[in-house]
Amino acid sequence: MSQIVENYRAVHGLRHYPAIEILEQPVASGRTRDVFRHPTDRSLLIKVNKSAPTPRRFFRRWSVLKAVRRVYKNVVPLRRELGEYSRMEAYEAETKRHLQRFSHLVMTDRGVGLVVRASRRLDGTLALTLRKIIQLGIYDKAIDTRMREFLDWYEKSGIVAADVHLDNIVFDETLDSIVLIDGIGDKTFIPLRAWFPIVNKLYKRSRARKIRDEIAYRFMDVTLRKDALRILLWIVGVSLGIDLMDGQLIDG
Ligand SMILES: Nc1ncnc2c1ncn2[C@@H]1O[C@H](COP(=O)(O)OP(=O)(O)O)[C@@H](O)[C@H]1O
Ligand SMILES: [Mg+2]
Repeated sequence: MSQIVENYRAVHGLRHYPAIEILEQPVASGRTRDVFRHPTDRSLLIKVNKSAPTPRRFFRRWSVLKAVRRVYKNVVPLRRELGEYSRMEAYEAETKRHLQRFSHLVMTDRGVGLVVRASRRLDGTLALTLRKIIQLGIYDKAIDTRMREFLDWYEKSGIVAADVHLDNIVFDETLDSIVLIDGIGDKTFIPLRAWFPIVNKLYKRSRARKIRDEIAYRFMDVTLRKDALRILLWIVGVSLGIDLMDGQLIDG
């Protein structure tokens, strides 16, 4: 993996950063990566692949096919994601407005790490994903407006981001904006979306529609559950002759 770091440093003129040790436990975790606080800079996070770095012996024993699969699973997604950050560099601020800010690649004791800007809440904790915000029942009008802005941007900007869903979008309260923190780049075997802008556009349009529908469905689900409890309390209250909502006897 360190070869990719070197390649990228060479190709994209990334500065040389020394290898660092991450001593802390992850502050967040996804399906493929653990997310750590940067040991010296609180504004940054380091994303490292969950699978342990492959020992050298391993290479000799495994078949070529397995090696190819490993490259496809670990190296290709990282290259594609970095490629997209690098491509976006050429665009004006508007195009990358909702994109997580990539800082640099670093070699860590847990493998190659992607160093990015941390999105936060106003109290300093990590920003919540949209899924969490809806689950907690705090999805409100203000966040909905920001989400509409985000989906509009997602559809219209030139970004290639195929894996956009509610776990890969966070609400950064310090920026008062939605940020796409993952799913960047086209990770399919043949990257049609990256090659053909029209394919990308059509795909993003349908993805944005699915996300809108999912938000509406989840929001309704959470709201109905809350309302169902309220209605249940009301029915129990009426049958007992007490208004449980304000604790008063209904008729006196
Ligand atoms: N820039 C960021 N700011 C705040 N939280 C983040 C950021 N990047 C990732 N996270 C948190 O870490 C989780 C996992 O990160 P992610 O990049 O999606 O990993 P994976 O590739 O495994 O899905 C996210 O769901 C989110 O909660
Ligand atoms: Mg993710």
